[in-house]
Amino acid sequence: MFSDELFLFELRNEPDVRSASWNAKPVKWEDHVKWLRASLVNVNCSFFILRSDEGCPVGQVRYDVSCKSAEVGISVSSRNSGNGYATRGLQETAILFFQNYPRVQTIFAHIKHDNIASLKIFAKAGYSPPVRVNYEGHDCLEMILNRPQ
Ligand SMILES: CC(C)(COP(=O)(O)OP(=O)(O)OC[C@H]1O[C@@H](n2cnc3c(N)ncnc32)[C@H](O)[C@@H]1OP(=O)(O)O)[C@@H](O)C(=O)NCCC(=O)NCCS
Repeated sequence: MFSDELFLFELRNEPDVRSASWNAKPVKWEDHVKWLRASLVNVNCSFFILRSDEGCPVGQVRYDVSCKSAEVGISVSSRNSGNGYATRGLQETAILFFQNYPRVQTIFAHIKHDNIASLKIFAKAGYSPPVRVNYEGHDCLEMILNRPQ
């Protein structure tokens, strides 16, 4: 087991994280391990662990690349929420992500209508105002961040 595997498992199963996902069912440990190990070796997946100043894991940001765009997902553990980790995490990882993936021009975020905290963090991190879309069968809000010129 690598050091953040358990943290990421517990984070994925936090109630707020499950309810923000398209599939709200709890994640099983075996499925988590399989998914995480596959994600870490997938060149089209860019995974960041967000850490406190003391080096403790507080959240994660993930970019799934598809051609010239990427889909972003983020979560911060409830005991660390409200401290700006998500806003800073989105800003800092976007810079690194655009550097590491020169072909990607746009990052997309798809957010449930009632996820106010999420709408706030993407807006504060410089994403466009939300637009209503149908994303993979889900009525949701889309916010985008274009590669800086
Ligand atoms: C959304 C999430 C990543 C925010 O993480 P965080 O580290 O707490 O975010 P920040 O501290 O940077 O900012 C949160 C902002 O939302 C606000 N907020 C938090 N909960 C809120 C709520 N229920 N209603 C309204 N605003 C809320 C905070 O006050 C803060 O805004 P402010 O800076 O103007 O005060 C975290 O709550 C989470 O993991 N949620 C579950 C997963 C999720 O929704 N992911 C995004 C899916 S696209």
